[in-house]
Amino acid sequence: MDIYRIKGGKKLSGEVPVSGAKNAALPIIVASLLADGETILKNVPDLKDIRTILQVVKCLGADYDFDTDKNSLRIRVNTVKNNEVPYDLVKTMRASIYVMGPLLARTGEADVSMPGGCAIGERPVDIHLSGFEAMGAGITLEHGYIKARTDALKGTEFKMRGISVGATANLMMAAVLAKGITVLDNCAREPDIVDLGNFLIKMGAKITGLGTERIEIEGVKKLQPVTYHVMPDRIEAGTYLIAGAVTRGEVKITGATPEHVSACTATLTDMGFAIDSGKDWVSLQPSKSLKGTIVRTLPYPGFPTDLQAPLMALATTIPGINVIIETIFENRFTHVAELRRMGADITIEGNVVIVKGVKDLMSAPIMMSDLRAGAALVIAALAAKGETEIRRIYHCDRGYEQLDKKLTALGADIERIKGGGL
Ligand code: UD1
Repeated sequence: MDIYRIKGGKKLSGEVPVSGAKNAALPIIVASLLADGETILKNVPDLKDIRTILQVVKCLGADYDFDTDKNSLRIRVNTVKNNEVPYDLVKTMRASIYVMGPLLARTGEADVSMPGGCAIGERPVDIHLSGFEAMGAGITLEHGYIKARTDALKGTEFKMRGISVGATANLMMAAVLAKGITVLDNCAREPDIVDLGNFLIKMGAKITGLGTERIEIEGVKKLQPVTYHVMPDRIEAGTYLIAGAVTRGEVKITGATPEHVSACTATLTDMGFAIDSGKDWVSLQPSKSLKGTIVRTLPYPGFPTDLQAPLMALATTIPGINVIIETIFENRFTHVAELRRMGADITIEGNVVIVKGVKDLMSAPIMMSDLRAGAALVIAALAAKGETEIRRIYHCDRGYEQLDKKLTALGADIERIKGGGL
């Protein structure tokens, strides 16, 4: 397996372009199953998770060409042929559950392998399933597969028991072709959901309330394939700002939506970094008086759980005390043990993490355990004294397009070594 070798201590400087948003592109690719014909998606990042979801839509009868040089994806749907997504695909990526909405809407049948636990916790799918039931689907669990059946989905009023990005997306995709009006309450307000909604509206769906907790959808008979530009990745954008901050460098992210990263930039400002922004860029500069802060992960527009691990890596280098509270996932601290091996001073009490800044992090052989924990380790290594080798970097390949190339362009000393470790 490939590894990263990073020589820490280089100040990052310069501009880095933000790629298309993984978490918007995934449901949008799946939503293309809702219309026969050719959908063209622009600004699709070339990532392992995108390849996996493309395998999923292919196994359901779609065909595609992905021009990775242009980040342009063509998906052709003649008819949805299959209704089953096998275990091997779901186990690699939980977002495969997204096909349930479009499959139920188009064929009335969906058999999807039940997602298991994952590195960041149990991650149930009960909200997705009770929403489909409320819309008239019968759900059974057979031999590890969720089987959903309906004669026709019907509009309904459904309040989600918790805020879920995945359930909001899945139920929206089901409701656009259902009979009548669906009102979804307690919806996720993430920009990725708004982007999916705008894609569906362009296809002919009737949706109001995007970006609020109450989304109304009036079912239509048919949707049309369209051309659509996926929004920029706010988690990637935040990751590069944090990477610049950890090296006390000066970085500018371009092609971004500043409003989408405002929880992250507010936290960085609170720590003492200087942030500036324009229409589609955000820049960061260091300052001499940095201090610890308190951060609580929350659904959008709060601080994103996906930036909790990267922020913690930065916090280990900030003088004073930082308190980080994780409220979205129950086991999202697998990066802590690795950061401690690099000399970080971190204490975990339930879902609260206390980070005391240390003068220097030091290099150590370390290993990624999931995508964002992986980004945190890269960030720590950029600041650490010495040469750090990071294993299992395939986790970062799931969600960061050309991570090593983008960091190199900013002046980092990072090398991807093919077959460099287990
Ligand atoms: C999505 C993102 C992920 C991000 C997360 C939270 C994608 C592909 N992934 O994941 O990067 O970290 O949002 O912002 O977009 N829950 C239930 N029952 C359910 C569904 C969720 O209890 O049926 C719980 C989860 O366990 C978690 C919380 O709700 O504690 C939020 O999860 P959710 O928003 O659904 O996350 P994902 O959509 O899986």
